[in-house]
Amino acid sequence: LALAAGLALATSPERPPGYREWTHVKSMVITDKQHGLYGFHHVYANSKALPALKQGTAYPEGAGLVVTFYEVETDGGTISQGRKLKEVFMRRDATAKATGGWVYSAFGADGAPREIDAAKACHACHVAGAKDREFVFSRWVD
Ligand code: HEC
Repeated sequence: LALAAGLALATSPERPPGYREWTHVKSMVITDKQHGLYGFHHVYANSKALPALKQGTAYPEGAGLVVTFYEVETDGGTISQGRKLKEVFMRRDATAKATGGWVYSAFGADGAPREIDAAKACHACHVAGAKDREFVFSRWVD
């Protein structure tokens, strides 16, 4: 029971309130619908994450990052964001040892938590691509 409770706690998703007021870091569009990261992305960082992003210092406890995903709408020469698809979060928490000191969570467009295996479905790719940057892909863009 204790173990089950511990597991539930470790994976219990929290959707940080007010992330839309965080600082916009960058955007990216992946137009291939077969791609696991398909969508129009915006990356936001909270105030605790910003110094680390900008100066390459260590991410402190409570640092938070999010990617919001939207449908990709193309029309003539324009590419726009359509309806929201999902949100994925990382929050710095040293106790999340199995996932490099980050708690990963994901939510649908309606804000409902999505069940994820954070180690396999999230962290493994962040390790593969951003090992030298504390598993954060995004770079600050002025
Ligand atoms: C196939 C590789 C891959 C997988 C799997 C993956 N990510 Fe990412 N993640 C990326 C890439 C690439 C970026 C940069 C995206 C951008 O710049 O728009 C990123 C960005 C992020 C960011 C913004 C901070 C950063 O690293 O730039 C968060 C938060 C995030 N992902 C959370 C998650 C969560 C939660 C999951 C699991 C549900 C997940 N990711 C699964 C590749 C992946």
